[in-house]
Amino acid sequence: MTDALLVDTDTDTDTESADARRTAAATWWRQAAVYQIYPRSFADADGDGLGDLPGIRSRVDYLAGLGIDAIWLSPFYPSALADGGYDVADYRDVDPRLGTLEDFDELIAALHERGIRVIVDIVPNHTSDLHEWFQEALAAGRGSAARDRYVFREGKGASGEEPPTDWESVFGGPAWERVEDGQWYFHNFATEQPDLNWDHPEVRADFLKTLRFWSDRGVDGFRIDVAHMLTKDLTEPLPTRAELERMPQDGTHPLLDRDDVHEVYAEWRRVFEEYDPPRTAVAEAWVSSPERRAKYASAEGLGQAFNFDLLEADFDADEFRTVITDNLAQAAETGSSTTWVLSNHDVTRHATRYGLSPLAGRPVKQGTEWVAAGGPEADIDRDQGLRRARAATLLLLGLPGSTYLYQGEELGLQEVAAITAEQRQDPAFFRGGEYDGLGRDGCRVPLPWSADRPAFGFGGAVAHLPQPAWFAQYAVDVEAADPTSTLSLYREALRLRRLLQTEERLEWIETGRADVIRFVRPNGWQVVTNFGTEPFPLEAEHDAVVLGALQAGAVPGESTVWIAPVGLLG
Ligand code: NOJ
Repeated sequence: MTDALLVDTDTDTDTESADARRTAAATWWRQAAVYQIYPRSFADADGDGLGDLPGIRSRVDYLAGLGIDAIWLSPFYPSALADGGYDVADYRDVDPRLGTLEDFDELIAALHERGIRVIVDIVPNHTSDLHEWFQEALAAGRGSAARDRYVFREGKGASGEEPPTDWESVFGGPAWERVEDGQWYFHNFATEQPDLNWDHPEVRADFLKTLRFWSDRGVDGFRIDVAHMLTKDLTEPLPTRAELERMPQDGTHPLLDRDDVHEVYAEWRRVFEEYDPPRTAVAEAWVSSPERRAKYASAEGLGQAFNFDLLEADFDADEFRTVITDNLAQAAETGSSTTWVLSNHDVTRHATRYGLSPLAGRPVKQGTEWVAAGGPEADIDRDQGLRRARAATLLLLGLPGSTYLYQGEELGLQEVAAITAEQRQDPAFFRGGEYDGLGRDGCRVPLPWSADRPAFGFGGAVAHLPQPAWFAQYAVDVEAADPTSTLSLYREALRLRRLLQTEERLEWIETGRADVIRFVRPNGWQVVTNFGTEPFPLEAEHDAVVLGALQAGAVPGESTVWIAPVGLLG
């Protein structure tokens, strides 16, 4: 169990060990390896092509064998899937296509039994247009109390036929939609995702109810979707889009990262503290500075905030080192621990990103242009992408703080670019906007479990997004049988990480090379990553290499090794 690993077993008295256990239980998240599951694409137990909760349950052994500390479930709530489940029609239920609340209870019990904690996604900025509140608002008409839970406004022009402002939604296109009686409602994301009015006491109260609902069912923590958006200042006259874009994001912006959003999270924190151990949270907050991010991570607020800096960095020693140093310093200031992320359900998989050549005019960072160009093979070196991905992951798993892994990355899975327009689901594809390119379906293709089974063992005959033939080589059964596979590497790294885990600090060791970084953790655990292609010779006398391999005494190009004093592994 995770807890046992975090507890100092040498304590002198029962009281001390009870205290230590309590502290460990309350701080499990600080250096956890969290595995993100996108439920509709993980495993499909009923064979309808859509992943479901019983599917996840059927793979609990796999999750336990992987060696993660927790899973984060992307939304599994009733949803019309206008935005992959981030359009929630009922926050306190399970989508019937994914199972029932009983299935949820059984899943969480099975995971807890194996020492795996559970984080669920909360989407508070917007509901689905099918949510009963929105349906009520449509029926109740202008000026009604029901409309006041959302952001309704009259339009401009002689008969209100123009939207209240020229603002654009994140997915592209106008951020206002007109309803039958002529009023307009505001949506930051898809038309089917109306923004809630966070000035409304019923909205606030309802989310407290939702947090308690899942906490009572045993959920350990929450991932908060676009945590920086909820509160708004929509005092008339509303600014134009150009004015809005020029406004500083310093806490006073009408729509983003407002200071008053922290009143919401202070209230949530009080709910988290009602539980033993306290429930945890991690904010998805896209803000203008590290200082602004720190507010979300404070102990009076959500407690932790995603740092996406490595996800946005190139495979570059200097960039990695700067990002790591800065984020550890920020985390120390807030008393939180930082989070490391290379992939999630919104970005091109990192094994693909790292194989793209900047010289080919395709940005390494997000890979969206490459995907939009149909994924040309000439512009990608897949072996290099995988080599770098493996090196980056081993580096990440050696860092102080928690790491968020995205389903499929443990297989070294690549982005699927070949999805036809008819097969695509992501609103970002249909509307354009900030998530440009072809949208995010390519990293959400259902996982390959068995090379030779229909739909690669995902479930029934056909998966809800098309799986390419080359998925076979990444199938879990193929990789599980191969000690050199990426899956075997992740398993070994996660196993050793638990044994080697130590205080949340590191010290840099100078390497004399611009393309090699090396650090040591307080117990002597060392991580060396060679970002270049020239081998990096280690000194003749060094501790044992416990993960990765040297070649002729050197760390090969684009690889990471872990070194540890004898005895640390027991
Ligand atoms: C962030 C989520 O990660 C993304 O998938 C979603 O589309 C938006 N928030 C809107 O909920």
